[in-house]
Amino acid sequence: MTKKTSLYFFSFSPLETKNVAAKVVELLGWDRTMFLIGDLGSGKTTFVKGIAEKANLGGELSSPSFTLVNEYKNSNFQVIHIDLYRLERSEIETIFIDELLASNGLKVVEWADKLPKIEEYDGVVKVFFRIIGDTERLVKVSF
Ligand SMILES: Nc1ncnc2c1ncn2[C@@H]1O[C@H](COP(=O)(O)OP(=O)(O)OP(=O)(O)O)[C@@H](O)[C@H]1O
Ligand SMILES: [Mg+2]
Repeated sequence: MTKKTSLYFFSFSPLETKNVAAKVVELLGWDRTMFLIGDLGSGKTTFVKGIAEKANLGGELSSPSFTLVNEYKNSNFQVIHIDLYRLERSEIETIFIDELLASNGLKVVEWADKLPKIEEYDGVVKVFFRIIGDTERLVKVSF
């Protein structure tokens, strides 16, 4: 097993969480899978918005999601945003998810801890969100 690196960021506003997201993609690149894990309202969608803004993808990211998958692309970037929140663990079709994760670009999965076999995904960036206070969040990035 390869050793993991973890980075920790404190954020005191939604804007700071977006800036953390922008930093993380700058550091790790745009051909990645990121699993976002954290409680309701901890900042996962805000983080994805930061990525979309950094890529200049515009558009409105929905939160909470009524769709399972949203794809955003322009001539430079592709972001696939998957939100498992509304699914029961038993409803999750891993074949479908795995196919999406095999596409090019950045793949971001909210509520990835619902995936039945999360420990079997290699090379994934895990981003953990913890609510510290009203507007304070701790974001841990492990890769
Ligand atoms: N430092 C912060 N970072 C991110 N969001 C913050 C912060 N401080 C306050 N907030 C608020 O917390 C909420 C975060 O919502 P967001 O939709 O990003 O969470 P989420 O983790 O995607 O939740 P869900 O699990 O419901 O999808 C927003 O209302 C946002 O304004
Ligand atoms: Mg969300």
